[in-house]
Order: sequence, then structure tokens, then C-alpha cells
Amino acid sequence: MWRPAERIKYQPQPGSWPSPEAAERSLLFSPVSVGFLSLSQRTWVPAMVPWRATEDGEVTPDVLDWYGRFAKGKPGAIVVEATGIRDVPSGPLLRIGHDRYIDGLKRLVEVVREASNGETRLFIQLIDFLRINRRPQPDKYFSTHIKITDSHRSHFETGEPDDKIRMQLAAETDERLKEILTAREYSDYSMGYRERVTDTHLEHIRDLPKTLPSLFSAAAMRAKEAGFDGVELHYAHAYTMASFLSPRNRRDDGYGGSLADRVRLPIEVYQRVREVVGRDFVIGCRFLANECIDDGLTPDEAAQVGVSLAEAGMDYLSLSRGGKFEDAKQPKVGAAAYPYTGRSGYECMPQYISDERGPFGRNLRATALVRQRLRKSGSEIPIVAAGGIYSFEQAEAVLQNSEADVVASARQSLADPDWFLKMRLGEGEQVRLCLFTNYCEALDTRHKQVTCELWDREQLDEPGISKSVDGRRRLVPPEWPAGVGK
Ligand SMILES: Cc1cc2nc3c(=O)[nH]c(=O)nc-3n(C[C@H](O)[C@H](O)[C@H](O)COP(=O)(O)O)c2cc1C
Ligand code: SF4
Repeated sequence: MWRPAERIKYQPQPGSWPSPEAAERSLLFSPVSVGFLSLSQRTWVPAMVPWRATEDGEVTPDVLDWYGRFAKGKPGAIVVEATGIRDVPSGPLLRIGHDRYIDGLKRLVEVVREASNGETRLFIQLIDFLRINRRPQPDKYFSTHIKITDSHRSHFETGEPDDKIRMQLAAETDERLKEILTAREYSDYSMGYRERVTDTHLEHIRDLPKTLPSLFSAAAMRAKEAGFDGVELHYAHAYTMASFLSPRNRRDDGYGGSLADRVRLPIEVYQRVREVVGRDFVIGCRFLANECIDDGLTPDEAAQVGVSLAEAGMDYLSLSRGGKFEDAKQPKVGAAAYPYTGRSGYECMPQYISDERGPFGRNLRATALVRQRLRKSGSEIPIVAAGGIYSFEQAEAVLQNSEADVVASARQSLADPDWFLKMRLGEGEQVRLCLFTNYCEALDTRHKQVTCELWDREQLDEPGISKSVDGRRRLVPPEWPAGVGK
């Protein structure tokens, strides 16, 4: 993963933890309205893919254990991992692209309701993504994938047959290839082929504005049937909907170019989902307060996107940062590019080795700007902030300073899913603090079952716990005995 050149090391400094009375009086543990319902507290576990579904995208006992374990900490809300809205093979990622997934998801909802005593609201993140291929073998790319054009021919002797040009291309240095190939060809060759929303010469890409509203709405309806409290439309990071919002989207069919046109499909998707699920179901979305790439969405534009989404009727906005393909690290030959490996990936999940800004609360300034503009526009929509938040003092300050209305913590909740309960009970000193090492993220990158290094080898011999395939890591954190039944 990319790291800032400064390489300054940071350690979490949680400051003081609240007494039960201080927690009771805090904003963090006060209720907040989200659409038609209320969260009992302003704590939130954002979506995290743990790679525990079957290859067919079905809920497994490990998925149930995972969400049940988070629910024992009784956060205000949990968002279930990015779940595919199409019924297509996507590895062990949850899917919701067919009615056959409803039963498994129903069980997931039941497990969370039971473990949290009905206190935690449960949303599911709905994702669409485009095709991405592995980085090809260079000779394979030049012998079969690339289409030889006059532009390529112009770099070689006149009249050379295409087969010879292919061989000559394969023998060229990277420097020369950058001159000979188009930027897109060079990217396909060096990173692997990846579809973009701007590939409107492909029928299925051209038709995304026709197909996506019904794919998202059918998925949302299944989520409602399974008993979720709502859905989170994934408009963030490297995926289809974020690519529509990006200034890099220069489609000329009314769905790209100007901001008004880029936000059109995200709004049409929202509207279709709302038509289908009605008002008694939360629809929120996650989008980027800053894309953190060249020519990407800036906080200023993100604020305008936020205002449009709120005006459309969205129930909450959750703001993330970065996580793009455009600056991803070059994968090895035979592997696929991963969007969390470049600078924008760092901004999404900042690590303890950082620059002078540090890894904690890096997205707050941009989030606060979006919220401020929303409030100026007259919207009271709740804003969810995330990124390096691991302590009571920090979370409470975010709320007191009106930077956000709800505070989400992904890695801190993974390190210690009981941390909400510990804070509320005045047991903050017992919180297992995330060190922001990104060991978990490295597992995620390799699509391996995600665990935290702080607990995955602890009490491995405990009876009845599920373990990783090689039996060397536990798949859920150890229990906090004092929290059982609280
Ligand atoms: C293992 C892992 C998986 C993640 N999966 C998702 C995901 O499915 N959807 C999403 O929007 N964000 C995902 N994220 C990003 C987190 O939701 C969060 O925005 C990010 O980790 C920064 O917050 P934190 O500092 O509290 O961890 C993931 C993060 C981790 C560590
Ligand atoms: S492995 Fe654990 S300590 Fe390291 S970043 Fe992930 S959650 Fe935090």
C-alpha cells in the first residue's frame, strides 16, 4: 500500500473515557433520527467486507457469527458489507441479486436483532461494479488482446504485417510503449483491462442508466423483505455509481459532464428505489467527500452532490474518501488491480505511518464542509463521518463541533466490537485500541477472511469458535465476559 513520504509514526491517544453518567449525558449516546426511524445512539459500524460468504454469495454461519459479534456491542447502526446487486459470480462477496438470497439475509437480520436486543438498526450496502480483468502476460496482450491500428503502424516500417508489429510491440521498453500506445491501451497492458462508465461503445455500459435503477430497486425490495431497516446505496470508492459522480465521467448522453448530469443517475436510482420500498424504509447512501485523485471530485463539488441527493429525499449521507482505481498500484502479472493500494486508497483507510496530518479524522474537514452546505440549503439530513475515529473524546468532539451527526468507526469496531458498550458502561479503559496497522486491510486486499491482529490468535483453543481455514486465526473476537447480557 502507498504511504506518505514523511513516514511519521502515530499511536492512538484516546485521552479520557467517560463515566457511565458522562456517557449518558453525551451526544454520542443520544438518539438521532434517520428517515422514519430513530437510532438509540450516534455510533455506527460502516460497511466492511469480511470475505465470509460462499462463492455463490450466500450467507454462511461465519457471516452470521461476524455480524452477531458486532451486534453484541450494540452500536446505533451496523451497515452490512457491500453486497452485489447482480446475480453474477463475484467470489465470496455477499449477493442480493436474486430472491434465493432472501432467506439467508433474513437469518442475518434475526441474529443481529437478537444479539443487540433489538437496539441496533441494520442497513445493507448495495453495490454495483464493472468488470475488471487480471493484468495480462505482456506477450499474450500483444499477440491477442490489442487491436493494431494505423497509429501503431506509424511507429514501424511501412508495410510491416500486423503479426510482426505485434512481435515488435512485445519487444519494446515500457518507455517506448507509453509513446506508441494510447493511454487506455497502456493501462490495459500494464494494469489489466477495466471497464469504465465512459465506455459507451459497449452496449451494456451505454445502457447502465436503463438497467441500474431496476437492479438497485429489486435488491432494495429484497432487503426490505429480509427485514433490514434500510439500504445504503454504494456511491463511493471505485465502483459504478461513484464513477458516474466523478468529474472524470465525460459521457455525453446526459449522464456525464456537468455536475447536474453526473448526479442524474444516482438520483434516478434513488427515486426508483424509493418508489418500490416506500417511505417506511431507510434509503441512505455513501459517497466521497473527496476522491483524492487528479481531476477527481473535490469537497466543494461533493457538497453540491450532497445537496442534490438530500433534495431528492435521501434519508442519510455517509461520507467516505478516496479508494479509487485511477492511482492503484500496478498488480503483478496474473493479478487484478485493487483500488485501495494507491494514495487515494491510503486516504480511504489511513494507516499509522502517515504525514503531518496523521491518520486520525482525515476526512472530517471535507465532511464538515458538506454538512455545512447542507444546513445552509435548509436540509437537516443526518451526516455520518468516518476515518480514523477510535476514542470517545474524538467522537464526541465531532458531534459537539457539528462536523457530523453520527460517528462511524470501521477498524476500531473490528479491533473491539464491544467498545461502544465499554464506553457506555464506564469501562473505556478496557477498550482494545486499533493500532491502524492495516493488517486487516491486507487480508481484505487478498480477499482472505478479515480478522484483526489484536485478537486473531487469542484463546484459539476456546471451544466452539470458528477458525480460519488453516486453523491459525479465530474468525471472531473473544467475548468480553463483563458485557454479556448488558
Ligand atoms: C476490511 C475492510 C473492508 C471494508 N469494506 C468496505 C465496504 O464494503 N464498503 C465501504 O463503503 N467501505 C468499506 N471499508 C471502508 C470502511 O467502511 C471505512 O470507511 C474505512 O475503513 C475508514 O474508517 P476507519 O478509519 O474507521 O476504519 C472497508 C474497510 C475495511 C478495513
Ligand atoms: S488489524 Fe486490527 S489493529 Fe490493525 S488496523 Fe485492522 S483493526 Fe486495527
